Amino acid sequence: MARILDGNAIAAQIRAEIKSEVARLPITPGLATVLIGDNPASATYVRNKRKACAEVGIASFGYELPADVTESEVLTLLEELAQRDDVHGILVQLPLPSHLDQSRILQAIPPHKDVDGFHPANLGVLGLKGKQPLFAPCTPQGCIELLQRSGVTIAGKHAVVLGRSAIVGLPTALMLLARDATVTICHSKTANLSAVVRQGEIVIAAIGKPCFVTADMIQPGAVVVDVGINRVDAPDQPRGYRLVGDVDFAGVSAVASAITPVPGGVGPMTIAMLLSNTLLAAQRTLAKQKLLEQDSNL
Ligand code: GUN
Repeated sequence: MARILDGNAIAAQIRAEIKSEVARLPITPGLATVLIGDNPASATYVRNKRKACAEVGIASFGYELPADVTESEVLTLLEELAQRDDVHGILVQLPLPSHLDQSRILQAIPPHKDVDGFHPANLGVLGLKGKQPLFAPCTPQGCIELLQRSGVTIAGKHAVVLGRSAIVGLPTALMLLARDATVTICHSKTANLSAVVRQGEIVIAAIGKPCFVTADMIQPGAVVVDVGINRVDAPDQPRGYRLVGDVDFAGVSAVASAITPVPGGVGPMTIAMLLSNTLLAAQRTLAKQKLLEQDSNL
């Protein structure tokens, strides 16, 4: 039976570390969250992010815009948030309503406040050997932190990433590569998918398809990280749905050596990394202020 990689417990430990760092700062780190439209899952994610901010002493400023908001209204808000001294990080929850140009909106967040790490100036740097972005994207960073804090060695391992999205699959693959894994990326056009995934000593599933990864695709002893959070109808549940990952947990946990659950695996790690990036943004602001003060004393 696989060991459960407990994202709830590891994220709680990270939040405690962040809380004590925040308490030592002479300023309150601030995160602005922008939620557009009425996607219920997005609303839940933003609520959980703001709740986590409150728990560690980060101020959050929530903006909720209607689904029919114009792009220029969104851009005006982002410009205003970019200027504010009490806002160290800005997050626009994805996905956006289809009439909005996602890349234009993400590029309107200044890279030094881009705590989601989605600006091309941050995402793109992940592809440059030896360079670090100002902020790494939260879910990929959460997967890596979860592996490292669970004692899983990445260097030299064959890691198979299922999914090539710009915000999870591709950056996760690049970050594993930077940590010296041998990386294969699989996607919807991959031939002999099962055979390829079975080569993975570390398998990261990020495709958004409930229970897609089954036991026959996993080599005995592999470490399996399930990024998927899929709502499937369950009339017997109070909310009418239940959450399942991209991995068939029951089947795969019989062959893997370690596996993340859903919920309680990558999800809380993503939020912990957002808090960590927001703390980092505030610390950088302080460091810059100190330098300016030194300059003016010369
Ligand atoms: N949608 C799915 N994952 C994320 C995330 O990490 N950040 C934001 N802003 N939107 C998302």
